[in-house]
Amino acid sequence: MDTEHGSAIAGTAEKAAPTRVPAPAPPRVFLETYGCQMNVADSELVTGILRRGGYEATGDPADADVILLNTCAIREHAEERVLGRLSDLLRHKHERPSVQLGLLGCMATHQRERLLDRAPYLDVIVGPDGYRDLPALLANGVDPQIEVRLDRGETYADLEPDLGPGPRAWLSIMRGCDKFCTFCIVPFTRGRERSLPPDAVVQHVEAAVAAGKREVVLLGQTVNAYRADGVDFGELLRRIARVDGLERIRFTSPHPSDVTPSMIAAMAEEPKVMPYLHLPLQSASDPVLERMQRGYTIDDYRHLVAELRRRIPDLAVSTDIIVGFPGESDDDFAATARWLDEARYDFAYLFKYSAREGTKAYRLDETVSEDEKGRRLKRLIDRQEEISLERNRAWLGREVEVLVEGPAKRPPGHAVGKARTWKTTIFPAAEVEAGATVRVRVESATAHTLAGRPA
Ligand code: 5AD
Ligand code: SF4
Repeated sequence: MDTEHGSAIAGTAEKAAPTRVPAPAPPRVFLETYGCQMNVADSELVTGILRRGGYEATGDPADADVILLNTCAIREHAEERVLGRLSDLLRHKHERPSVQLGLLGCMATHQRERLLDRAPYLDVIVGPDGYRDLPALLANGVDPQIEVRLDRGETYADLEPDLGPGPRAWLSIMRGCDKFCTFCIVPFTRGRERSLPPDAVVQHVEAAVAAGKREVVLLGQTVNAYRADGVDFGELLRRIARVDGLERIRFTSPHPSDVTPSMIAAMAEEPKVMPYLHLPLQSASDPVLERMQRGYTIDDYRHLVAELRRRIPDLAVSTDIIVGFPGESDDDFAATARWLDEARYDFAYLFKYSAREGTKAYRLDETVSEDEKGRRLKRLIDRQEEISLERNRAWLGREVEVLVEGPAKRPPGHAVGKARTWKTTIFPAAEVEAGATVRVRVESATAHTLAGRPA
């Protein structure tokens, strides 16, 4: 299967003795990632596993022997996108029947039975706890190979991921979720909560720094529920802050119920922990929060944000909100709309409720029509855009410290990076040095970006 590919690397064959048979080119893998940052980190893990299993990564499906999609099941729309993309990629298998097509991640667990009806051409279907077996499953060939069992012990702590480009590393520190919010499929697709040992986390951070990373983002579905070997999330932040050469620590996503004094103190006292918090709210109406089984009231949440803002100067805060949860009345929605004005988030991810089979809420009657969900969503988006703009404009004339990621897409001659608050910031730069930290005086702002000049 590699004869054509072989010629592509013929340039390197000149050095080999003419009598020696050239080694076959390693099989190539194309891996595309959907969904959350956790999936991005999982894809880096999978890339590492497959590289050690003798595979080579390619960015072009037309050039691949194995095509994998790492998928998301959080909303119906996410699953539909993947199914559409799969039938599109199927053409490579028609052209080259030896190509193996695989589906990884949350959809694999969620859709396990149905997947082979909808996509009978799949060669492998592997859930989030089965990635170690991927090389073996791919080698088995013939019949579709399915590994969607959840494993409450699997953390992949011993495996080094193949980190992507840029100055930032995304590192999983815990997996799974025990919260069972009634709308959410994650506890079913990713299984029970488990944390990597703190020593393993520190090792991964050290390896990332040795590979040139300046910033780490610690990942977990409820990242601040982290606990292992007697170390809680606050203590873990402090341990990571001691890693030399590391400049910035971030994490996502924390759950409000797991915000502890230890975590707040570490954020307030460790200069390497960035002043930014993504704190998913979901709804500002207590009856809705109750039916979602979120474990807090809006008053609990309000006090939490006030305390965090009191302790951490210039803290930026973002959130997730769902509109149209079953039973969400006009009054419930009005409470959430009012809350945006009180909370003044720096930005927000706003979603229409999507019923997920297998969750508790799936059995509730949907009382909010799609049209009404759309209207509610638009109202929140419009208001939040105004607030985001005001929050960004508050930085005009001030200096921000930007960790440079690379050249900005536009305008030409500019560099882009993140301020400490996670705000995307652009500035003119003749030469762009990814990983450098530049102080920028903010001169203009949109709802999504700050712009300025090196101070
Ligand atoms: N429908 C809509 N949004 C959802 N989320 C999780 N499950 C659903 C669902 N069934 C949102 C929540 C969560 C974010 C990652 O996705 O807001 O915080
Ligand atoms: Fe889903 Fe709730 Fe767990 Fe977040 S905390 S992953 S919303 S069940």
